[in-house]
Amino acid sequence: MVDVELGCGTGELAVFLTELGYTVDAADFAEGALPRAQKERGGAERVRWLCLGIEHDDPAELSDDGYDLITLRLVFPFLHDRTRVLHSLAARLRAGGALVVITPVVATTPEERRQTRTWPHCCRWP
Ligand SMILES: C[S@@+](CC[C@H](N)C(=O)[O-])C[C@H]1O[C@@H](n2cnc3c(N)ncnc32)[C@H](O)[C@@H]1O
Repeated sequence: MVDVELGCGTGELAVFLTELGYTVDAADFAEGALPRAQKERGGAERVRWLCLGIEHDDPAELSDDGYDLITLRLVFPFLHDRTRVLHSLAARLRAGGALVVITPVVATTPEERRQTRTWPHCCRWP
């Protein structure tokens, strides 16, 4: 089973998915994220760390064979054209695969925590 974890940050979910049996491509565009992920999760086998922006970078490094699972955790609010991104990712799903978006929603997020500027270190605006 092969997963791509997009906006992986320091790789917590990527490593968890390897423990479930996945081989993982973990991608993030933040300069500091991947070295930190590699340092903190140094022993992580079956993770390929990719420096890649979801919206604007060439996805050539992603697998041509597609993915059984595509995960985006806590990255969705930072995307500008979510429809385009989801369509292009869905095209990479293998038959029977799943695309999972884990994101806060207004209904369960207190008002004082709804502004993305509380996470400025995560944003790279084009
Ligand atoms: C709040 S962190 C979540 C990290 C990780 N997914 C987790 O759940 O722990 C958001 C991450 O998404 C990354 N990110 C935001 N927009 C991105 C984009 N367009 N392409 C790649 N990574 C992006 C940021 O660099 C940051 O590491």
